[in-house]
Amino acid sequence: MRNINSDQIYARGMKTLLVALCLAALLQTSLAADGSFNYNDQSQWGGVCTTGERQSPINIMTADVAQSSSLTPLDFSNSWEETTSNGIFTNIGRTVKFLVDSTSPNVTTRMPVGIYKFLQVHFHWGNRSGVGSEHRINGQQSELEVHFVHSRYGNPNALAVVSVLADTNTRPISGVWATLNASRVANFSDNFTVYGLNLSSLLPTNRDYYYYEGSLTTPLCDETVQWFVLKNQITVPAAYLEVLRSVRDITGGVQDYNYRQVQPLGGRIVQTLGSSAATISSSSYLMALALLTILAMAV
Ligand SMILES: *[C@@H]1O[C@H](CO)[C@@H](O)[C@H](O)[C@H]1NC(C)=O
Ligand SMILES: *[C@@H]1O[C@H](CO)[C@@H](O)[C@H](O)[C@H]1NC(C)=O
Ligand SMILES: *[C@@H]1O[C@H](CO)[C@@H](O)[C@H](O)[C@H]1NC(C)=O
Ligand SMILES: *[C@@H]1O[C@H](CO)[C@@H](O)[C@H](O)[C@H]1NC(C)=O
Ligand SMILES: *[C@@H]1O[C@H](CO)[C@@H](O)[C@H](O)[C@H]1NC(C)=O
Ligand SMILES: *[C@@H]1O[C@H](CO)[C@@H](O)[C@H](O)[C@H]1NC(C)=O
Ligand SMILES: [Zn+2]
Repeated sequence: MRNINSDQIYARGMKTLLVALCLAALLQTSLAADGSFNYNDQSQWGGVCTTGERQSPINIMTADVAQSSSLTPLDFSNSWEETTSNGIFTNIGRTVKFLVDSTSPNVTTRMPVGIYKFLQVHFHWGNRSGVGSEHRINGQQSELEVHFVHSRYGNPNALAVVSVLADTNTRPISGVWATLNASRVANFSDNFTVYGLNLSSLLPTNRDYYYYEGSLTTPLCDETVQWFVLKNQITVPAAYLEVLRSVRDITGGVQDYNYRQVQPLGGRIVQTLGSSAATISSSSYLMALALLTILAMAV
């Protein structure tokens, strides 16, 4: 048997403490992937969240948006308008989410990047009026952002999110907002089955969009998302927003806001469906030039 002096005991104690700290750090990292990360210290989000070069959300400056004639309109036909979905509405600790169940008909969206299957819809909100959305248009935040998460048929890792921004109205909670009753998911892991959700009632009538390549807006911030941010907003009852601001997170604390700060655009160019001005063809350009020349000669 060896003699152990107090220095050795101290050293062993320190080693045990270090191991415990490392384990705690590891646990923290793994927990981050399942929803316990914190919106108050976003600079601590690790990995690609910090080092990535196509992170989301972004501030969309409309004057810098490029018109692209290779984009096509989003097609939400059939299942979006003509059928309803069943699924589970859950408080997942950082947001509330409706997950369509496997017995519902597939809800499909044709996008310029392929044919995608709708998976789930969830919300991002703020703790006071004037904040809430993740994406900003010309620096302006909306009060709520609705994310329709899709994955490509045949490639579940390829994600596309259709994003709808919302401001508030003063109407009572009714329609789709009553169906997705957030009061019933006040605490972490509360859930209930939703029958007959009309998803298209969460979309504006006009579905023109801004398109860019980005990431998930929560850790681990995977850079696998095609973003379609609709130009037109919907409205949400202010009373519903109040309920969202009071739901509890995984620790039992109030999840009073859950939007990520905007990320650098880097070299990315936000695009929109082409028309007129920027896609002016060379022949019409030449015709305009000829017309100007004639006008100039006439003066
Ligand atoms: C729905 O999509 C899945 C692929 O995610 C496919 O296996 C299934 O056949 C589709 N169901 C229908 C009714 O199209
Ligand atoms: C909202 O959250 C921000 C960021 O944590 C905080 O600075 C601000 O005081 C909060 N406002 C209210 C009204 O709680
Ligand atoms: C939402 O659920 C709460 C709690 O169950 C209930 O009191 C309230 O009436 C419901 N709201 C609507 C609009 O159905
Ligand atoms: C949420 O949890 C609190 C205790 O933390 C409890 O008082 C309350 O009834 C719970 N709410 C719901 C809707 O279950
Ligand atoms: C739904 O709630 C039950 C407890 O009432 C829980 O065991 C289950 O994990 C929850 N489901 C989800 C998807 O959170
Ligand atoms: C869903 O709501 C839209 C309007 O928001 C309506 O045009 C459509 O008929 C509804 N679909 C169903 C199946 O109720
Ligand atoms: Zn989201």
